[in-house]
Amino acid sequence: MIAHKVKAAYGPFGHGKVILFGEHAVVFDQPALAAGLSRGLEASLRPGTGRLTIPAWNLELAVGDDSPVARAFGAILARLGVREVDVDVRAELPARAGLGSSAAFSIAIARAAAVARTHDHAAVMAAATDAETIFHGTPSGIDLAAAATGEVGRFQRSTGWQAVTVLQPMTLCVGLSGRPRDTRAQVDAVRRLRERTPVVRTVIETLGALAGDGESALASGDIDELGRLFDVAHGLLAALRVSTPELDALVHAARAAGAIGAKLTGAGGGGAVIALAPGHERDVIQRWNEVGFQGFVATIGAPREIGPS
Ligand code: MEV
Repeated sequence: MIAHKVKAAYGPFGHGKVILFGEHAVVFDQPALAAGLSRGLEASLRPGTGRLTIPAWNLELAVGDDSPVARAFGAILARLGVREVDVDVRAELPARAGLGSSAAFSIAIARAAAVARTHDHAAVMAAATDAETIFHGTPSGIDLAAAATGEVGRFQRSTGWQAVTVLQPMTLCVGLSGRPRDTRAQVDAVRRLRERTPVVRTVIETLGALAGDGESALASGDIDELGRLFDVAHGLLAALRVSTPELDALVHAARAAGAIGAKLTGAGGGGAVIALAPGHERDVIQRWNEVGFQGFVATIGAPREIGPS
């Protein structure tokens, strides 16, 4: 039995996330299943003049600058009524990789600012939603919910986030395509495809149904079924035209290295894939490296561990 030290629920940290099932479908009020990652972003706040630094992303900016990150940063501070601060962010996630870095950014900074003003969780979510809207247009909210909780959960626009029972923590391989994803562009493209081609609605509903099947497989610890469902999901997401040659190459390389299932995760068009490869995780990462991609192994369904870094 592993003893986990759990991070304070509302510390200035935002979790990265992977979507297990239901990306894109969730925009149309289908259910989706996501999991917070133990990796994320941590914000610290000090008296200052509205500057933000994220050394891992080579990013330095100030409130009032004309970039989405600067506008999102300014929106969080304005919503929470926090002025005359500088914020430093320690990022453990790559930016724009399909792993929820913008939601983790928004939650971490909103939490740091909220602590300064003793705001509650609802105020944190409202400020983070303002920021996500600047990044992505009309986000469903799933990334923010996963970033805030770090749990595995089921999300539906109309009903919100519900934690999901996971029989045992699960290890996933996360492969990075190296091509930045643009969530807003991918969501708009799927919306247009759905309007033009009615059968796409059935694809979207099936992606939502997979979230229910995935939830049952997680609850019973049926890893083989989860792997099969990953493969079905990847095929359907490719039918929505959100896969890319790099994402397909990552999926195929993972399967060749022993994965029992693999799929793109998040908006697609770039970003990341996840693969289930019990006992073969190192083989998958090695194969990805051999074909020119980076990857890492993540555990989902376990509380965040705070250990010596
Ligand atoms: C992005 O992580 C997930 C999408 O479903 C968009 C959203 O839910 O806002 C593609």
